[in-house]
Amino acid sequence: MDIPADTVSLGDYEHYFHQRVPADIRAYIAGAAADGVTQRDNLAAFARVRLMPRALADLSRASAGSMLFGQPLDYPILIGPTAYHRLVHPDGELATAQAASLTGTWMTVSAQASVTLEAVAATCRTPLWFQLYLMPRRDDTLALARRAEDAGYRAIVVTIDAVLSGVRNVEQRAGFRLPDGVAAVNLAGLETNPTVTARAGSPVFRGMLANAPTWEDIAWLCRQTRLPVLVKGLLNAADVQPALDAGVAGIVVSNHGGRTLDTVPATLDVLPAVAAAVAGRVPVLMDGGIRRGTDIVKAVALGASAVLLGQPVLHALAVGGMAGVAHMLTLLQTELEVAMALLGRATLGEVDRSVVLGVG
Ligand code: LAC
Repeated sequence: MDIPADTVSLGDYEHYFHQRVPADIRAYIAGAAADGVTQRDNLAAFARVRLMPRALADLSRASAGSMLFGQPLDYPILIGPTAYHRLVHPDGELATAQAASLTGTWMTVSAQASVTLEAVAATCRTPLWFQLYLMPRRDDTLALARRAEDAGYRAIVVTIDAVLSGVRNVEQRAGFRLPDGVAAVNLAGLETNPTVTARAGSPVFRGMLANAPTWEDIAWLCRQTRLPVLVKGLLNAADVQPALDAGVAGIVVSNHGGRTLDTVPATLDVLPAVAAAVAGRVPVLMDGGIRRGTDIVKAVALGASAVLLGQPVLHALAVGGMAGVAHMLTLLQTELEVAMALLGRATLGEVDRSVVLGVG
C-alpha cells in the first residue's frame, strides 16, 4: 500500500480512503446515523472556536505530556474503539497496535475487533484499554472483562450511548454486510444486543429493551473488576453524578461519531458543562471530529484530559496500513506541538480557557 506523497493531514487520509475503499465498506465506516447532522456538527463545533495566542512565551521546556490513571501519557491522543479493522486491512487491529506502539499511543480495542483481544495485547507495547457493551447476559460482560484483565489491559471502557443501534440509513442504502472472514471474534458464542429492523408490532418497546442496561449494571461492573471503568457516550451533565455514584473512574464525552442518535449536540459543545459537573473528580476525555492539532487544544482548553480518535484511524489504516496509522498519529502529535508553540502554551496545564475566545 502506498501512501501518496501529498498526504500531509488527516483530511488527506480521509480523501484517499474515499477513493480507495469499496462503497459499502465506506458507508459502514463513514456513515452517520440518519441525516448526519451530528456527525457534521462535531467537525463544525471545532471550526467555530477561535484560538488566542500569547506571544514570545518561554517554550524551552515545553511538553504535551501528562499523567492519566497514574501512567505517563506522551500526548493527549488515544486510539478510540472502532469495530472491524480487518474491513480495511488484512492485519486489522494488529497493524493498528503496531502503529500505536511505534508512536507511543495508547489504544482502545473494540469488543467488535476483528482480531482477538489477546492477539492485540501480544502485539502492542503501549497501554491498552478494552471497550465493551453491557451484554444481555451479565456473565458474558464479566467474561469479556476478565479476558481483558488477564491479557493486561489497563482499563475497561463501557459504551453507554447505544442500547440500540442507531438509524443507519447510509449503511442500509449501501447494503453493507460483513464480508466473509471479518467477524467480531471476541464475541463468538456470546449473546449480543439485537439490531433494530423496522417492522410492525413495536419491535423496540416490546422486547428489545428487556435487558437494556442501567447505572446499576455499571455499578455492578465497577465492583467486579479491579480495572478502572470509564463510560463512553455521556453527553448530559445530569448523567455525571449517576456515573460517579456508580463508581466510574473516567468519562468519555462522545456521541459515537454521530452514529447513534442524530441531532444530539456536538461533543465539543457539551464538554464544558460535563467537565464542570465532574469538577476534576475523574478524568474527562472526548471524541468526535478530531482532525487537527488545534482541535485537541480546544478540547483540552474546554476540559478534556485527552481525546480519542475513531474514523481517522480507519482512514489511515485503509490507505497506508501500519505505516499509515503511525504517520497519521505523528502528524497529529506534531500539529499539537505546533499549535501549543504558536499559542505560547508550554504545557497542557497552560492550555486553559484563556486559549479559546468567547467560549464558556
Ligand atoms: C458502530 C458500532 C460498532 O459504531 O459501535 O458501528
